[in-house]
Amino acid sequence: MIRKHTFGTPFPTDAVVLSLPAEENPLPYFILTRENGQVSLTLRLHPEEKLYGLGEAVRGMNKRGFLYRSWNSDVFNHTESTESLYASHNLLVFFSPEHLFGIYLDDPGQVTWDLGYTRMDTAVITSENGDLDLYLLEEDSLPALARSFRRLTGRSYLPPRWAFGYIQSRWGYASEAEVRRVAREHRQRGIPLDGICLDIDYMEDFKNFTWRKDGFPDLKLFSTEMKQDHIRLIPIIDAAIRTEEGYAPYDSGKAGGFFCRREDGSDFEAAVWPGFCCFPDFLREDARRWFGDLYRPLLEAGIEGFWNDMNEPALFYTERGVREAFRRADELRSGRVDYEAMWDMNHVFNSIANNPEDYRSFFHEADGRKIRHDRVHNLYGAFMTRAAADSFRRFRPSGRVLLFSRSSFIGAHRNGGIWQGDNFSWWSHLKMALQMLPGLNLCGFLYSGCDLGGFGCNVTEDLLERFLQLGVFTPLMRNHSALHTRDQEIYRFSIWETMRDTVRVRYALLPFLYSEFMKAALTDGMYFRPLAFDYPEDPRAVSTEDQLLLGESCMIAPVLEQNASGRYVYLPEDMLMIRFRSPEDYDTVPLEKGDHRIRLSLGEFPLFVRKNRAVLLCSGGECSESLDDTSFTALALANSPVVCTLYRDDGQDPSPVLTEHLIRLSLDPPAGGGILRQHVSCPAG
Ligand code: NOJ
Repeated sequence: MIRKHTFGTPFPTDAVVLSLPAEENPLPYFILTRENGQVSLTLRLHPEEKLYGLGEAVRGMNKRGFLYRSWNSDVFNHTESTESLYASHNLLVFFSPEHLFGIYLDDPGQVTWDLGYTRMDTAVITSENGDLDLYLLEEDSLPALARSFRRLTGRSYLPPRWAFGYIQSRWGYASEAEVRRVAREHRQRGIPLDGICLDIDYMEDFKNFTWRKDGFPDLKLFSTEMKQDHIRLIPIIDAAIRTEEGYAPYDSGKAGGFFCRREDGSDFEAAVWPGFCCFPDFLREDARRWFGDLYRPLLEAGIEGFWNDMNEPALFYTERGVREAFRRADELRSGRVDYEAMWDMNHVFNSIANNPEDYRSFFHEADGRKIRHDRVHNLYGAFMTRAAADSFRRFRPSGRVLLFSRSSFIGAHRNGGIWQGDNFSWWSHLKMALQMLPGLNLCGFLYSGCDLGGFGCNVTEDLLERFLQLGVFTPLMRNHSALHTRDQEIYRFSIWETMRDTVRVRYALLPFLYSEFMKAALTDGMYFRPLAFDYPEDPRAVSTEDQLLLGESCMIAPVLEQNASGRYVYLPEDMLMIRFRSPEDYDTVPLEKGDHRIRLSLGEFPLFVRKNRAVLLCSGGECSESLDDTSFTALALANSPVVCTLYRDDGQDPSPVLTEHLIRLSLDPPAGGGILRQHVSCPAG
């Protein structure tokens, strides 16, 4: 059951697709306070209370024990004490012997989630705007709550099937020749590959919707040739448009009056990569259409995938901010030079970027209403994604286009996926990536993944290999790294063959993983879940924080520590462990419910298959289009017939009907029960 409670005059965020009347009755569970225009909800937490949700946020799957802030931020340097990341997903689920419900705060401004931070036994959730729709979801299980939330907010985005292939990315590929070299190195060494991302270096002076003629003389031809080799180019698109007369997107944006404005009506400007820029007012339908149309030439050049970046929006500096910093520096100059003055100066200069005052200094126009940016801040990236997705529906109605964004809000999950932003080559960020996935799934963002290997700083060989082992299972499997960091393509490392074999396992599993993803997306389910979702009565399962259920049949438990020779795993039921080294080389080990220490040398990683359910392995290939999805090896631990369903489609249909694509397979257990290993054929058509 879903109920809506309205406070003040909420801004229409487009997050919710279900129209509900507002409740007359008071909101249950919470003590409600209204002060200084803010609305706060307070709830005493049960000692056993677990809190799930908040999508993109730091720390564990259970969010209890920290203060989080919904405020989309460009936080290159994030750590476990960072309150806000790039996205805001205001869904929180309460799960204890006393509670099983979720709340969704449909509020695009700042929301704080004090979840046992000030007091361990209390949650206080505060909306700064005080204008919001609050949805209360009550169901009888955690998976039912997840489905109910999707019914409220709409079906998850469907990427094309090729987007489940391995994608190589790096900030710095500045020419066709360089990109071709990357492709060649992968192909020659048998490292499977389906896509290469183009970062801002493909543009002319980092200007959106341009490409540098010295590096990419004929993008259409280049993209066509790459596609013949089954490699898609995936260009980046940033949110802001450089202020430059004669640059077509600026001229047309200016002529249409499509940019955000200051109080005095002039266009708001701030610097991003290309220097001073204007910011499209994505909250306006006509501005979205104008921006969406700018993707058209790229689509016509054969591009089938994009990543939208810097759309919190990131503001490197404004003229106001820089002047203010110098004014403060001048003030400090005349005083004593002591540590306080130095710290003050550091602070002044470090807060030039993404300064709250700048976010308060410009306005949107929505439905003829002028609204200050900070009140709707968290919508910006989501509405950029919407502009792009609407354009793909206009210009490529019969196919799916890959789209993943950095910033997002609920609602964007219908239009694209997201990546987890600028992580570092740290073991702690490998764990964070894993722990973020179920929250994202709960919020509807099924197509997701982190920068494998880590974006910032220098990766080590073992860390990249362990990142790839997680990436085998994440829908977006992309290796991405920052300019000036150590080269991070697989072929740069002495253990590239080990890494290659890890990626080859992804391809052997690709039809199966795609099938699990599509079944989850089309039934409003979750591809990744905490163990608590399927084993709510098992206290060990409920407190497990570094393993995930995947689809209908599997569980993953990646190695997350440096120099580890294995790890402890908790099995909530009897399972079959497949310990992979390559698609051809793996052990199958039946394991009983309980705790186990699993030996996993660097090139080994496990997949656990639940009893009487199966995994399907194909023979693999160098790209997603060359995979044979008619012939599989089924692996299971079975003592009764195993029934599994394989979802298979053309990977392009934008509105597939689940039942039309399901192939039902029935497998007999071995006599007396045990490991089932059987060839299965699913003829095409
Ligand atoms: C920030 C993005 O998060 C990162 O992935 C990208 O490489 C840089 N911008 C440069 O475009």
